[in-house]
Amino acid sequence: MYKINTNYQKLPGSYLFSTIAKKVSAYKETNPEADLIKLGIGDVTQPLVPAIIDALHGAVDEMADKDTFRGYAPDLGYEFLRNAIVENDYKKRGCDISADEVFISDGAKSDSGNIQELFGTDNIIAVCDPVYPVYIDSNVMAGRCGNYDEKTGKWSDVVYMPCTRENGFVPEYPAKAPDIIYLCNPNNPTGTALNLDEVQGWVDYARKNGSIIIYDAAYESYITEPGIPHSIYQCEGARECAIEIRSFSKNAGFTGVRLGFTVVPKDIAAGGVRLRDMWARRHGTKFNGAPYIVQRAGEAVYSAEGAKQVAEEVGIYMKNAHALKDGLKDAGYEVYGGVNAPYIWLHTPDDMTSWEFFDFLLEKANVVGTPGSGFGPSGEHYFRLTAFGTYEDSMRALERIKKL
Ligand code: MLT
Repeated sequence: MYKINTNYQKLPGSYLFSTIAKKVSAYKETNPEADLIKLGIGDVTQPLVPAIIDALHGAVDEMADKDTFRGYAPDLGYEFLRNAIVENDYKKRGCDISADEVFISDGAKSDSGNIQELFGTDNIIAVCDPVYPVYIDSNVMAGRCGNYDEKTGKWSDVVYMPCTRENGFVPEYPAKAPDIIYLCNPNNPTGTALNLDEVQGWVDYARKNGSIIIYDAAYESYITEPGIPHSIYQCEGARECAIEIRSFSKNAGFTGVRLGFTVVPKDIAAGGVRLRDMWARRHGTKFNGAPYIVQRAGEAVYSAEGAKQVAEEVGIYMKNAHALKDGLKDAGYEVYGGVNAPYIWLHTPDDMTSWEFFDFLLEKANVVGTPGSGFGPSGEHYFRLTAFGTYEDSMRALERIKKL
């Protein structure tokens, strides 16, 4: 008789955004006339930019010709894309990363969920609290988190690093060093960002304690302030202790197209085994590459035209972020984020819990957001709004919230 992976049974409820989607469709069923504005999941609303569309069309035509048709992609991804990434995302920022350390994937969500496979189940993970749920859930599935305590909302074997208004959303170093440290910077969900010195501090801490950092930089293109690192490899020593995960979803609107990459430097090794080689082995075995046409679209993000056009789209979302933030502040809300990230993180009014505020907003304003407690216990009494809606929807939502 087969046996299931019982770790799955430990997971409470469904994935956060699936739970929200279910709640919203139930509401819509009983209130079919409701004009809902969805500022919940961080999904983009702007179309792909012309440079990307041209690249997609060109690549589709190549696939229609027997001389230019492509089958399986190379294990790590096409060189044209890996070289463009190295040049633009790393060399230009003074980071020493080579193309054979870059692994193209179908997105940062898959990579951030899969990367834990490289580590033994007895490793202790540390996460910021609140946290992007994929980091925890994927480790629970692997059997690395112990047991869930409904009362505290915590896993027994996970080290939580609270990020709240009290500490300026800057995680403190755990007293006992964890093995694996997840950092998302700029941060989802709080929309705040650690500066270069703070990230350097984490690199120093990881090196001193023999820990590894999984650095999720999916939102780096939203950085507007100087002093916030676009890559962890801007820090000295990061090549020895940090894996970086990047996405094309948020900077170039690929949420439905799917493309991302992970950097595993050759300098990271444990007991003489290079993690880069392990990840290459895994990639070769379990993944057949992002589609050629999508990798060509990714390359177009780095062309002169493409870079200009995607930057304009990022600008559109940041205009939403600023307007939402300022508008909510004017309306008396306590608001964070929205400066180096497309997320607004507000403190719930009148001591409402995150889910109470979710229901309140859904019922009274027909606006969908994300309850902070869904991201972890320290997210209680906070609420996330995404700036990825259209400007019109963001402003309509703001007006409705102001009237509450
Ligand atoms: C979010 O809303 O947190 C993100 O869209 C989720 C994701 O990128 O997977």
